[in-house]
Amino acid sequence: MPTDMAADSPNGRWADRAASLYDADYARRYRSRDDELQAVQSHRDLLEWLGKVCDRFDRPIAALDLGCGTGRYFWGLRHLGALTGLDASPAMLDEARQPIHAERLAAVPITLVQGDLMRHAFPPESFDLVYSIGVLAEHVPLDAALAGRVHAWLRPGGRFAFTTVHPRSPSVPVTLARRVATAAVDRLPPVLTPALHRRLVVGGLYADERWIRTLLAGRLAIESLERFRSDVHLHGRCVAVKAS
Ligand SMILES: C[S@@+](CC[C@H](N)C(=O)[O-])C[C@H]1O[C@@H](n2cnc3c(N)ncnc32)[C@H](O)[C@@H]1O
Repeated sequence: MPTDMAADSPNGRWADRAASLYDADYARRYRSRDDELQAVQSHRDLLEWLGKVCDRFDRPIAALDLGCGTGRYFWGLRHLGALTGLDASPAMLDEARQPIHAERLAAVPITLVQGDLMRHAFPPESFDLVYSIGVLAEHVPLDAALAGRVHAWLRPGGRFAFTTVHPRSPSVPVTLARRVATAAVDRLPPVLTPALHRRLVVGGLYADERWIRTLLAGRLAIESLERFRSDVHLHGRCVAVKAS
């Protein structure tokens, strides 16, 4: 599989954290899990979801995987003209040089970039598809700055597909303060609760439907937004398109 490894500007704190968490040992175990996950239905559903997003294009696509890790989802892409994988962890990127089902990607030019998805500068309108699985509203905040960056990288008619952790995931600890805030946000008119809601999603470290709609409004039109469950979390899953 042809790959081209590029380096990036200095990382911010989220990326530094990821680079030290995803060290060589962790990356090796993560890559082994890529093989085991093929038997897990929620994983296969995600691969199929990603493939169907690609099917919405009527041309070969240039795709960017934000936080690509070991390249777990590379082989789910279809109609691929070129692929860029960005990740903060050099160890994860080393594994991504031989991702699962590498043979299916043999004809695709792949560029692996070590960098911080919150800082890296791609030229405007570089990609037809920007996708991110298991990263945004999970390891880094999904916030207005990130939405603006993705919008700039997309070509007209391009799509942003991503997963999040939902604030109502059973994996999120339910403190008394969180229970009270959730009840207030559910009962009061939204116009009264933007600050409370922002606290519930911890500024984008979790994301629910309201947070996603607010962030994307005026930038990208939502094509689909739904919840799904993995073995660990309740997630959100969204596809949004940039106007042609
Ligand atoms: C849970 S893994 C998901 C990897 C891959 N998307 C998948 O689904 O298998 C999270 C990945 O995000 C990367 N990451 C976290 N913060 C990042 C940042 N600020 N910039 C770039 N990559 C980051 C980590 O290094 C790690 O590879």
